[in-house]
Amino acid sequence: MSLQWHEFASKDELDLNLAHYIAAQLQQAIAERGTASLAVSGGRTPAGMFKALRTSNIEWSKVNITLVDERWVPNDHADSNERLTRENLLQDGAAAANFISMVNDAATPHAGLAGIEARLSVIKTPIDILILGMGDDGHTASLFPNAAELEDACVSTQLVAAVTPPVAPHQRITLTLPTIVQARNVLVHITGTGKKELLNTAMQEQKAITELYPIRRVLDQVKSTAQVYWTA
Ligand code: 6PG
Repeated sequence: MSLQWHEFASKDELDLNLAHYIAAQLQQAIAERGTASLAVSGGRTPAGMFKALRTSNIEWSKVNITLVDERWVPNDHADSNERLTRENLLQDGAAAANFISMVNDAATPHAGLAGIEARLSVIKTPIDILILGMGDDGHTASLFPNAAELEDACVSTQLVAAVTPPVAPHQRITLTLPTIVQARNVLVHITGTGKKELLNTAMQEQKAITELYPIRRVLDQVKSTAQVYWTA
């Protein structure tokens, strides 16, 4: 594992540079393999980057897009990552991309898991580009510290796992750690000095302590060099 930091003077600059980089990588994947896959995180951080990315002049009809993780809520719910992605990314040129939803009608993610696993099989692994966020507790994707399902989600041979966050709202469905770390290109998209300090702390601490930080556990196992896109 190694980390490469890219720091920007403003959020606009970060969003534009990250969007340009992702677009170029998607087009390169299409040139090399005929199609491309992109897994995006939700939360508050990505909306600006999504808006910059959606106008990129690439062959969007050859791109499969899914989520790194989803809150188990209807896809029109205010907290839905699918809704965030549909409203901010799947517009303009990017409306032609194929989006694979991570929710279904099951009452819980545990009950819905097999259906989502089957649906995701259209995405060939390894995923080409995967963008992680990070929470203030060191979670990434929906790999939450102290979640009952964390260990299973970190060693599972499946694409997705159901997770109940000990503190954060909503049950979740998440790409498993093995699915995440084999991606061809793993990007970490974070803002704010607090998250920069937290990520540095997580990466420097001794292993026993850093098992509290799922972001460290993921980045330790990423196959390629993970790139961090950050602004204050
Ligand atoms: C989610 C996520 C999650 C997110 C972090 C950071 O659904 O919550 O995908 O892993 O990336 O919690 O969230 P913010 O960008 O809101 O800080």
